[in-house]
Amino acid sequence: MGDFLAQLVDISKSFPGVKALDHVNFDLRPGEVHALVGENGSGKSTLVKILSGVYTKDEGKILINGEETVFPNPRAAQDKGICIIHQELNLCRHLTIAENIYLGREPQKFLFLDQKKQIEDARAILKRLDVDLDPTTRVSDLTVSKQQMVEIGKAISTDARIIIMDEPTSALTVKEIDELFTIINVLKREGHGIIYISHRLEELAAIADRVTIIRDGQHIATMNYQDTDQEAIIRHMVGRELKEKFPRVQTQAGKTIFEVKHLAAGKAVKDVSFSVREGEILGIAGLMGAGRTETVRAIFGADPKESGQIFLHGKEISIHKPLEAIETGVFCVPEDRKKDGLCISMPVYQNVTLPNMEKVTVRGIVNNAKEVSIARNTVSELSIRTTGVGQTVKNLSGGNQQKVVVGKWLVKPAKVILFDEPTRGIDVGAKVDIYNLMNELKKQGIGVVFVSSELPEILGMADRIVVMCEGRVIAEFDASEANQEVIMQYATQYM
Ligand SMILES: Nc1ncnc2c1ncn2[C@@H]1O[C@H](COP(=O)(O)OP(=O)(O)OP(=O)(O)O)[C@@H](O)[C@H]1O
Ligand SMILES: [Mg+2]
Repeated sequence: MGDFLAQLVDISKSFPGVKALDHVNFDLRPGEVHALVGENGSGKSTLVKILSGVYTKDEGKILINGEETVFPNPRAAQDKGICIIHQELNLCRHLTIAENIYLGREPQKFLFLDQKKQIEDARAILKRLDVDLDPTTRVSDLTVSKQQMVEIGKAISTDARIIIMDEPTSALTVKEIDELFTIINVLKREGHGIIYISHRLEELAAIADRVTIIRDGQHIATMNYQDTDQEAIIRHMVGRELKEKFPRVQTQAGKTIFEVKHLAAGKAVKDVSFSVREGEILGIAGLMGAGRTETVRAIFGADPKESGQIFLHGKEISIHKPLEAIETGVFCVPEDRKKDGLCISMPVYQNVTLPNMEKVTVRGIVNNAKEVSIARNTVSELSIRTTGVGQTVKNLSGGNQQKVVVGKWLVKPAKVILFDEPTRGIDVGAKVDIYNLMNELKKQGIGVVFVSSELPEILGMADRIVVMCEGRVIAEFDASEANQEVIMQYATQYM
């Protein structure tokens, strides 16, 4: 066994119009968590995709256990013990846990599938990870975090020594993140090496042994985590001092703009009331599953409402579908960008102008130059990293896709904007861009509703905070009198 499980030496990779990686070095030792951080579009996913055979490198060397290796495809990397857990999980939802773990490698007995062995082996793997799950459960019945555990189970069942996790925690609850970290520690003890990509820098303290920072496709630094701190990491990431993580602006709260009274919808929304005033950001805090996204969807008309009332500037309005919401000036930046927010194979400019057709059509004919100029504005306002507004959204990095989702709603005048986890997967610098934008909206007298699972950002940006639990609003605070502990107490009240 060499000193390194993997060494990536002088790796370069270009896509049309971008040099995604420029002579980057990275290595991984057995039994360590090596965090890989950098701004959106800095090249993190590209680097790990090269190590896992998804992309081929243009230049450089890959050494596995000290031996130079070439990966023409993902299978070749798998055979060398490399496993990548993408953020979009790759399981077959209609199959069981055991079937997923052994998919394509089913144990056989006399040429037949040995189902009993498959289930027993899967049980042993889950036990090794200390996960309490029945291997015959269908994957579609599992939460995202449990699905992730199955992915990890699959990885160790293939004897993968190198496990790559690309933003594994972005859809997990606090408790689930703890569970994941416990598993990561088991894997470390067993001598696996883990490459860990995340924008949640505060997580690194709990698990990272080393951290590598890349910026604009270039290697900036590799450090022992102990010898550094979050501020230094951020400085390396953005290449400058970040003045304020939460750039709050003080304004005088004025008249009530928007009010929701006793909203009930589906199973998840039981009794939700809140109001937003001019010149304030209303934060909606709560845990994953508290019904916040469902609340936003029901208000926006994406899901049916059962009862309750909605008022805009004191007048009751009724919204049955998103189009009606948009016409009244109530916009929504959704949580699941791939599903609800983007047309992934269309160019950036069409994604921006799609909800703004009236701005770019003249007598029913689309004016392409107008589309492009509006989109260019959005791209520069939000510093979206593209090769141009003609770039296909699919080829943007995850965080830049999210910025497109946010950007397309800022083209036309809004009265109320509901942001559902707008900074998920977005780097520290770009988060500040989005916060500033919310501040700008608030100054213009637009009602800003800000749903987030990250308490620091709710506390840092919202002026007033309501806490949801089990489909109900159960507490309300002025931001100045709230803190993490109190909010958590309410958010976990019924657990
Ligand atoms: N398949 C592709 N085709 C064209 N360009 C691509 C492709 N994949 C990535 N890129 C570009 O390469 C650069 C690096 O992207 P990458 O996805 O590696 O960033 P990232 O660091 O993972 O960012 P994020 O934190 O937003 O996920 C970006 O400019 C991106 O647009
Ligand atoms: Mg990425």
